Amino acid sequence: MGDRSYNIAVIPGDGIGPEVTEAAVAVLRATSLAFTLTHYDAGDDCLARTGVALPDVTLAGALRAQAVLFGAAGDSAADVILRLRSELGTYVNLRPTRAFEGAACLYPGTNITIVRENTEGLYCGIEDEITPDKVTATRVITRAASERIARFGFDYARANRLAKVTAVHKANVLRKTDGLFLDAVRRVAKEYPDIRYEEGLVDAVAMHLVMRPERFQVIVTTNLFGDILSDLAAGLIGGLGLCPSANLGDEHALFEPVHGTAPDIAGQGLANPTAAILCGVMLLRYLREPEAARRVEDALERTIAKGQTTPDLGGKLSTQQMAEAVITRM
Ligand code: NAI
Ligand code: MG
Repeated sequence: MGDRSYNIAVIPGDGIGPEVTEAAVAVLRATSLAFTLTHYDAGDDCLARTGVALPDVTLAGALRAQAVLFGAAGDSAADVILRLRSELGTYVNLRPTRAFEGAACLYPGTNITIVRENTEGLYCGIEDEITPDKVTATRVITRAASERIARFGFDYARANRLAKVTAVHKANVLRKTDGLFLDAVRRVAKEYPDIRYEEGLVDAVAMHLVMRPERFQVIVTTNLFGDILSDLAAGLIGGLGLCPSANLGDEHALFEPVHGTAPDIAGQGLANPTAAILCGVMLLRYLREPEAARRVEDALERTIAKGQTTPDLGGKLSTQQMAEAVITRM
């Protein structure tokens, strides 16, 4: 037991959110580090019960905590997770997508990290009704946010010894917004002569990801493209059950699976807890507990390699049983 206790806000949310978050919490507790975990309410159920999807007490708890562990929110996701990302000032959404040995998938060996801009683009929520039959959405791109996300991507590549960064855009059509985004990334790229820099149009990149994912290491892109490509990347390695993400800012961090509430499998113990457990691993690294992070990751890798998984990966275990198999190996 260390001499510090980490203060973590846990927001399980809806659907499979509580199931996978519980698994991740059990794994964190099994590290024998000291955690003070405070659970908070948010999401569709919370909205139905209390009239608000993200209560003030939840927001305050998230702001006070050293880090937040989030599950998923349903239809209220925009009011919950987008608001949390914005209030916490988490301008990066870091989405590592790595294939596991023993998990059947399209591309074993895949290791792609998507660095998604988390504050602007089409996610600003600026939509207008011009007439009842004509509506618009505003795509906001700023040089400051584009340079910031690019710098994060190159620093991440350098720190993790990844040789290449690819900027993904649609500047041939979105001349102003992605024109500015690309210009900002190119300027930053010049500061990193040790990292290879490439650019790709988002539609072509979608095809290349499916045909030759090994071409990509770090992808830096705008908010919506990052959202779409990260689910595509999940499909290359065996599905959304395997993909964690970190929302990072200068002062706060929130860790959440890439997946949503999975209503088709919720409440049946079918959800793969791997994404949520990997959120715990990212959280441990963020807290500068690399040894504990490595122990969890090793145990998880060995559990998957032995086929002790949920049905999405062909196994027979429930969410909770898979988490227990990981804990036993720790
Ligand atoms: P989803 O990510 O919940 O599910 C997509 C597919 O992946 C489903 O077939 C599901 O069963 C499968 N899947 C997801 N996680 C899995 C896991 N851990 N293990 C095994 N299979 C898994 O996306 P969907 O169905 O489009 O959205 C459902 C709800 O989630 C919507 O209300 C949406 O708004 C919300 N959502 C919330 C997010 C958040 O809170 N950050 C992110 C994405 C969606
Ligand atoms: Mg998504």
